[in-house]
Amino acid sequence: MKISIFGTGYVGLVTGSCLANLGHEILCVDIDEAKIQKLLEGKLPFYEPGLKDLVAKNIRKERLKFSTNMEEGVNFADVIFNCVGTPGQDDGTADLKYVYAVAENVGKFAKNKKYLVNKSTVPPGTAKECHIIIQQQNPLSQVEIVSNPEFLAEGKAVYDFTHPDKIVVGSRDSAAYSVLRKVYTGRVRSYIPFLETDWATAETIKYANNSFLATKICFINEIANICDKVGADVKLISQAMGLDYRISSKFLHAGIGYGGSCFPKDVRALYSTAKKHGYDAKLLKEVDDLNKRQHGQMLTRIKEHFNQDLTGKRFTIWGLSFKPKTSDIREAPALTVINQLLEHGAEVHVHDPVAMPEMKEEFGEKITFHENPHNAVEGSSGIIVLTEWDEYRNVHLNEFADKMQHKVIFDGRNIYEPELVQEDGFTYYGVGRR
Ligand SMILES: NC(=O)c1ccc[n+]([C@@H]2O[C@H](COP(=O)([O-])OP(=O)(O)OC[C@H]3O[C@@H](n4cnc5c(N)ncnc54)[C@H](O)[C@@H]3O)[C@@H](O)[C@H]2O)c1
Repeated sequence: MKISIFGTGYVGLVTGSCLANLGHEILCVDIDEAKIQKLLEGKLPFYEPGLKDLVAKNIRKERLKFSTNMEEGVNFADVIFNCVGTPGQDDGTADLKYVYAVAENVGKFAKNKKYLVNKSTVPPGTAKECHIIIQQQNPLSQVEIVSNPEFLAEGKAVYDFTHPDKIVVGSRDSAAYSVLRKVYTGRVRSYIPFLETDWATAETIKYANNSFLATKICFINEIANICDKVGADVKLISQAMGLDYRISSKFLHAGIGYGGSCFPKDVRALYSTAKKHGYDAKLLKEVDDLNKRQHGQMLTRIKEHFNQDLTGKRFTIWGLSFKPKTSDIREAPALTVINQLLEHGAEVHVHDPVAMPEMKEEFGEKITFHENPHNAVEGSSGIIVLTEWDEYRNVHLNEFADKMQHKVIFDGRNIYEPELVQEDGFTYYGVGRR
């Protein structure tokens, strides 16, 4: 099949290259000329494991092409995926201008029957609005809107896309279900659960999914905060809870809080959608507030250790991305911690295996970047672990302890065993364990 993909970010580029790898002929379209130019030169605009090879292979096989031409993108195929961003706005609502711009282009340029498939995360009501926009552009348009939310996670996006636990398709046209089955499963992957729904249900499933996972993280963080007060160990508690098959161990690790381009904005967008419809979804509001508090907790702990005075002290941050195996720093806890340390007059030295270019754009010369995590601890008053990269799990702390001013570890991801760290002469602070 020929398929166009609008938006070549994390979702669009993974969707495009994975569908090309299934044998489809793909044209990826983006308004960002620099991004498309980079892709044409064989360079990826971000880090995602396995994606570089997949893109290169499918370009070589001539199944994956790139363009900035909207009209060409609309008429290249009869199935058009809308994978543009839906960033959160100050009031918590999703900014849908990019989604609607694609709908407008499709309405303007489409010459025959087409399916416009919204893969971006959008609030209920968006498919309906896209339909209206297209009808306004062309009252005779035969474009059908389909809602098909994406559940991939950065860091394992290629695997998630090729091994989905479900495919959700919302439509008012039953033919769309068959078209989407053909796109995803062909003759070989017919075992994947395929849920046929209406527009609003498909749109809401995605928000419910992400909000539930965010709530689960907040729940265990709240237990960790109680552990800090009562002297219990959250790691053992989460292990015990995870063994209960009704709960499962996934998303049950206490830490400095979630970040990224999805959970924070999706929890807020679902809350504001409910509010718009006259319902005050207090749980969601609390989840968002709790998570923000959790990001800020690291500073409280650091200040307590240094009698509230951080002026002139040098700190080392290991891990900048919001989670391992991605260069994405959107809403990463590191942003909060760095800003707070700078506000308190501290000097900040950082390391991350892949996300330093992104952080450089954010902070420039205000902080110091190190290619090697060991060099970043020279003269440091404390190591602050904010992302659980394997590189940091395996370090031998005693190898560089002598280089530090103060031997303290603030472990925002609970990756170390307190006793082992203490054996190396370090003071240890975890989240919900000491
Ligand atoms: N990143 C994830 O892990 C993830 C997972 C599931 C769902 N989602 C959802 O998918 C959507 C996309 O997320 P992302 O992280 O890939 O975003 P992104 O910001 O990485 O990429 C969006 C891309 O769309 C392009 N764009 C904007 N307007 C355009 C237009 N009119 N035509 C063509 N391209 C246009 C931008 O230039 C950008 O390259 C969001 O709604 C997000 O919530 C993201």
